[in-house]
Amino acid sequence: ILPLIFALVLGYLSGSIPFGLILTRAAGLGDIRTIGSGNIGATNVLRTGNRPVAAATLVLDALKAVLPILVARYFWGEDAARVAALGAFLGHCFPVWLGFKGGKGVAVMIGSTLALSWPVGLIFCAVWLLIAFSRKMSSLAALTAAATAPIFAYVFSGERLALVVAGLSLLLFFQHRENLGRLLKGTEPTIGGSKKES
Ligand code: G3P
Repeated sequence: ILPLIFALVLGYLSGSIPFGLILTRAAGLGDIRTIGSGNIGATNVLRTGNRPVAAATLVLDALKAVLPILVARYFWGEDAARVAALGAFLGHCFPVWLGFKGGKGVAVMIGSTLALSWPVGLIFCAVWLLIAFSRKMSSLAALTAAATAPIFAYVFSGERLALVVAGLSLLLFFQHRENLGRLLKGTEPTIGGSKKES
């Protein structure tokens, strides 16, 4: 059990680094929590108009899941790698440093699925891109990719990974509860569009 606890803590610490907040501040774009949706993720960073910073947020938020997963796998095996993914997700969504108010987990889920089973990760990205380009809504793209990911995890890796991915998907849905409300009302903004805090 000790390796699993180490993996969870390692994942949490890495996941709780708020790259969106750090990078936007460093780039002189202000506090991302007061812009657009107030979210610290790449989609909201894009609302500052700075594409490179948004892209860097996406990549670093994904890598902060990949790294602890690879370390946990190397030292403690596959179960620990999966627990590290859960830790990274919890750290990103509920970072102790930001009063437990973190992001929505999309980039972290991309990194986690790629590191745990790369076909699942690639399909997650493909579904995200398909919906993002056809419907122009980041949240809808993420929710669709997350809803289908456990099925692909089951197909490519089996029950255990499917359960872990389903856990991540549930958390992702929970973090998108405001987006879900707006999607149902038809008021969710399109990618790159402006949005007021709601
Ligand atoms: O990546 C998060 C995305 O799905 C929604 O972000 O800022 O539009 O609420 P946002």
